[in-house]
Amino acid sequence: MTAPRILVHGGAWAIPDALVAAHREGCRRAAELALEILLDGGTAEDAVEAAVVAMEDDETFDAGRGSFLNRDGDVELDAAFMEGRDLHVGAVAAVRDIANPIRLARMVMESEHVLLVGEGATRFGLDHGMERCSPEWLIIPREVAFWRHQHDQAQAGALDALRAWRSDTVGAIAMDNHGHFAAAVSTGGRPYKLPGRVGDVPCTGAGFYVDDEVGAAVSTGDGEAIARIVMAKRAVDALAQGEAPQEVTRGVIDYLYKRVGGHAGIIVMSRDAGHKADGVGCAFNTTRMARAWNEGRRIVAAVDR
Ligand code: GLY
Repeated sequence: MTAPRILVHGGAWAIPDALVAAHREGCRRAAELALEILLDGGTAEDAVEAAVVAMEDDETFDAGRGSFLNRDGDVELDAAFMEGRDLHVGAVAAVRDIANPIRLARMVMESEHVLLVGEGATRFGLDHGMERCSPEWLIIPREVAFWRHQHDQAQAGALDALRAWRSDTVGAIAMDNHGHFAAAVSTGGRPYKLPGRVGDVPCTGAGFYVDDEVGAAVSTGDGEAIARIVMAKRAVDALAQGEAPQEVTRGVIDYLYKRVGGHAGIIVMSRDAGHKADGVGCAFNTTRMARAWNEGRRIVAAVDR
């Protein structure tokens, strides 16, 4: 038996001062829910699912209801799940009518499939007992107003500046008291994205990677850049080489910027995290990154460096 660990994030971007408290407390609540499950002897899978569902349901975050809208004014969601015992993966992309895509990703992981997209993913969920939500239910007034602003900027040819301002994703890594790992990640993608655009989140090794023999990593930020350097797998490979989590996170974020000019954040947990406080690490080269983790029974949450 080992002491359980939870590490969650709520996105790395220029989180405005007015939204800092909501991001910090949303991450704290998600980590608390997951820790309760782990302390009750629950599995890493149940813990990360609970954490990510809580953040999908919280309109603060770019995941589930409240996500960014694409150029057509629709929400399209991506999510992924991985467990570290047998390296099972499940992911969904461009889903338009499922309230909690992380639950759908877990169902995919527990099937013979790895990645399902669009209407096919939704139909798989319906066949397995999920309910379709209305696409309009995923859209909130804050995002309609932001979309209008982006649309005006796009007409004026100034969209790139807006893209740098916001990006998103939520994610979680847990190690249960058997030393077993799982990771979950969910996003509405980048603002004003092309319909059908998919970033790092459902791509194994880019948005997430988990191996019980080593540890786990979950990415957030500029999905195209993250995918080009396969960032999460790069981090887990560095852990396997014996680097400490904090050193690993700093190294991959520096590499991301140096190699492809990307802006992102990453969380990492090593397999010795049950008895080492520094078995978790986080780094970002955006202005802020929302995250929370446990130290024993205490949850620590932060947004600034
Ligand atoms: N990191 C989320 C995305 O780019 O879609």
